[in-house]
Amino acid sequence: MSEDTARRPLIAGNWKMNTSLDSARSLVDGVASAAASHAAVDVIVFPPTAFLQSVATVAAGRIAVGAQNLHDQPKGAFTGEHAVSMLVDVGATYALCGHSERRHVFGESAEWVGDKVAAAQAGGLTPVLCVGETLAQREDGDTMKVVRAQLEAGCRHLDADGVGAIVIAYEPVWAIGTGRTASPAQAQQVHAAIRGWLTDRIGAAAAQRVRIQYGGSVKPANAAELLAQADIDGALVGGASLTVEAFSGILSAAASERAPSA
Ligand code: 13P
Repeated sequence: MSEDTARRPLIAGNWKMNTSLDSARSLVDGVASAAASHAAVDVIVFPPTAFLQSVATVAAGRIAVGAQNLHDQPKGAFTGEHAVSMLVDVGATYALCGHSERRHVFGESAEWVGDKVAAAQAGGLTPVLCVGETLAQREDGDTMKVVRAQLEAGCRHLDADGVGAIVIAYEPVWAIGTGRTASPAQAQQVHAAIRGWLTDRIGAAAAQRVRIQYGGSVKPANAAELLAQADIDGALVGGASLTVEAFSGILSAAASERAPSA
């Protein structure tokens, strides 16, 4: 996968608004057991916030647990929202920031995503900054312009050390939940450009250490070829993270793609 051994594969399951309390608890237990057979792979699950504490308790440090969203303010009159400190209190160590559904369904601006990234990091959560273009933007040839603008805004409050400490997830909007995956070459092209943006922003050595996940219809059948790309360091998985069988297939692909000689 990577010449830099610091870039361990990072496979994450975004459960979105799925599971019941019972099924969430058994899913995380199964995922944590599967993860135990793949010590070279880092694993995170992002359950619904209502179940986060319970899922974190079952995970018991075997795998990481993260929040799907957060509010950038520390407290106050924000009905229905969760502050970073609350998410930390119930066991989160990561947070998705700017997932495409938050941007496109809930209207989060790129600048607000930047506020969330900064708040997450300041409060002790590792932000997973999600970026990606719509189909229309891709067809207009604007993919990198859109992704760069999302990166700039998403990191607008961070210094170089801060940028070096986030995770980036490239999720083309047209590949999310559609069964349509970016080809490995299409994904690698954008990942390499993201790495280029990082290099300009924080220097080559630090840029080489940042993990860039791919997301969008990742399944056991296509994970290996995506993860074999030089700048794809993991996956952010939606639908296929909802069963232990499918998710552990992706963990196995990540473990075997991590060829020491690559
Ligand atoms: P799918 O894997 O269901 O396409 O979802 C991807 C995603 O949005 C993960 O955050």
